[in-house]
Amino acid sequence: MIGKRIVTPDVLQEEKKEPTLRPESFDEYIGQGKNIEKLKVFIEAAKIREQHLDHVLLYGPPGLGKTTLAGIIANELGVGIKVTSGPAIERPGDLAAILSGLQENDVFFIDEIHRLNPAIEEVLYPAMEDYALDILIGKGPSARSVRLDLAHFTLVGATTRAGDLTSPLRDRFGVLMRMELYSQEELEEILERSAKVLGVALEEEPKKEIARRSRGTPRITNRLLKRVSDFALVHNDGIINSKVAKNALKLLEVDELGLDRTDINLLKTMALLFDGGPVGLDNLAASTGEEATTIEDVYEPYLMQIGFIKRTPRGRILLARAYEHLGLDMVRELPIFDEVD
Ligand SMILES: Nc1ncnc2c1ncn2[C@@H]1O[C@H](COP(=O)(O)OP(=O)(O)O)[C@@H](O)[C@H]1O
Ligand SMILES: [Mg+2]
Repeated sequence: MIGKRIVTPDVLQEEKKEPTLRPESFDEYIGQGKNIEKLKVFIEAAKIREQHLDHVLLYGPPGLGKTTLAGIIANELGVGIKVTSGPAIERPGDLAAILSGLQENDVFFIDEIHRLNPAIEEVLYPAMEDYALDILIGKGPSARSVRLDLAHFTLVGATTRAGDLTSPLRDRFGVLMRMELYSQEELEEILERSAKVLGVALEEEPKKEIARRSRGTPRITNRLLKRVSDFALVHNDGIINSKVAKNALKLLEVDELGLDRTDINLLKTMALLFDGGPVGLDNLAASTGEEATTIEDVYEPYLMQIGFIKRTPRGRILLARAYEHLGLDMVRELPIFDEVD
């Protein structure tokens, strides 16, 4: 089960109650390179013009800082934020209620925006484009449509699946930002900040060690740090040194690349059942008992980043580094395929 994995990039139940490690300004937000530089300029320009910022779509795997960034955008603009999610808006009236409560230049954040239902999207289009709501009053032949003006606002949408957005919705965003997995250095920086916030002593070596096992994902970095600090508290007066970190991570069953049993199972299935591929996503899902979308959104981005698997037009293939990590011999020469996208 995904929710129980220590390396899941999804939010675990206990994390909803914990004090937040979430950065609140650009100064505290680490990584995401040029995208952040651009966003800073757009925000500055909006402030100089005293206008709303263009609508922003944030897309990429879970745990990379989309929700965090939505909050920072509102903070940096100095405006209010209303937060909801695609599945939470059930009727057009729910959306209308939120929209009509927005103040001039506010941020409206819709998480999992790919899960909005089509009837709601219809209401959202004129709101995004003309800052107006068309409301039908009355029923039958006497019904008439009334246009209600809204405050200018910035819609920030977040999704793990940009491909699932309808194109009319996608086209209405002025700023598209693809979130990238974080580098080792960036994760180390995040760890330094988080250790300071949590008030734990984190030595240099274990910092590297934890970053290496975080799958490029800050949510996992912070989770591993918290778990390891529990061990440190009990066994080493709260100081995280190499020994404590190594032992803790071993007990947590996260290997030196941040892989757990589910990843290893996936890789072994590819190696042993499919001779390293190419194997289609649905086949892989059926043979591992994992959801196809979970494989695609959650496991694959990291496995591709570390050069373990590759997507080809004919399916996924397992690369030499994965065989090495599994301690298996590669059974055949790899044919050469073209990259997808
Ligand atoms: N760029 C960043 N710098 C520092 N911490 C980050 C950054 N991005 C994410 N985090 C941390 O990771 C956690 C998960 O981020 P979140 O915004 O909830 O991800 P997403 O919405 O993409 O799933 C946050 O609580 C925050 O502590
Ligand atoms: Mg989020």
